[in-house]
Amino acid sequence: MAKVFITRKLPEVAEQILKEAGHQVVVSSQDGPLPRKEFLKGIARADAVITLLTDQVDGEAMDAAGDIKGFANYAVGFDNMDVPAATDRGIPLSNTPGVLTDATAEMAWALLFAVSRRVIESDRVMRSGLWPGWGPMQFIGSDVGGRTLGIVGAGRIGTAMALKSRGFEMPVLYVDENRNELLERELGAKKVDFETLLRESDYISVHVPLMPSTKHLFHREVFREMKHTAYLINTARGPVVNEAELVEALKAGEIAGAGLDVFEYEPKMVDGLATLDNVVITPHTASATEGSRNGMAELAARNVLAMLEGKMPETCLNPGVLGDA
Ligand code: DGY
Repeated sequence: MAKVFITRKLPEVAEQILKEAGHQVVVSSQDGPLPRKEFLKGIARADAVITLLTDQVDGEAMDAAGDIKGFANYAVGFDNMDVPAATDRGIPLSNTPGVLTDATAEMAWALLFAVSRRVIESDRVMRSGLWPGWGPMQFIGSDVGGRTLGIVGAGRIGTAMALKSRGFEMPVLYVDENRNELLERELGAKKVDFETLLRESDYISVHVPLMPSTKHLFHREVFREMKHTAYLINTARGPVVNEAELVEALKAGEIAGAGLDVFEYEPKMVDGLATLDNVVITPHTASATEGSRNGMAELAARNVLAMLEGKMPETCLNPGVLGDA
């Protein structure tokens, strides 16, 4: 019987799978991200750990974890994990791709519509009881159908976001290292350079992972290259956007608005963001559907089971550490 530490309460199914396999499961009782000290203490006593994007799985944590069998991240993003440090130490890491693709793409669309059609502002007026009745000039928003959609990062989620534009007849541009034949075939999407995408898109949806090369990919000069009528949607990682400069760009009218599910300094937002009417902000909930969160919990638990048996986790981030497993 192995001991599995889960750093925060997850959907039941994770515990169920691990317990059914005969393992002992310890779930942090903390209602919030685990303080570093508690995290290090918890992992030191465990054989494998399910971590969250709020846990820093770095060299220090790996050393504190002794002869740990692996860390399974309950997230597709793994910028909280030091993959080379784990590989050096022979520790397998995993993430949860696939199971949250549609939920995240749907949230990108929810933000796109909410900000372009001013849904939140309108809702606020209705709730205030101050709506004077129908008016021809109230809450004029932006058209979506037929406008150009720019996808930055055409991996799983970026592809799903783009495919869901079917029906809105939007020309689709994308930026990615690789050609996306599916998007080109299905939508006639065009692979373009970043500058072209900025210049020509009416909606830009961000789907790149956070890496040194994507940190602050969107900054003041980039906003100035976008159409002043364009919207930025970010469901990827906050630091891909320089948030303070986004606020300046929004205030200066350099772009029309933004729909953000992720923030540079979560859980905080930079000053001024929350007072702008032309932003819609949600608390990093793009994957928060029942199906998707259960899928993440199941996949993370299955990855842990594989790690405990020295087998290859389904979605291993550093398969080299397991050789032919
Ligand atoms: C992820 O999976 O990376 C999301 O940010 C949280 O589900």
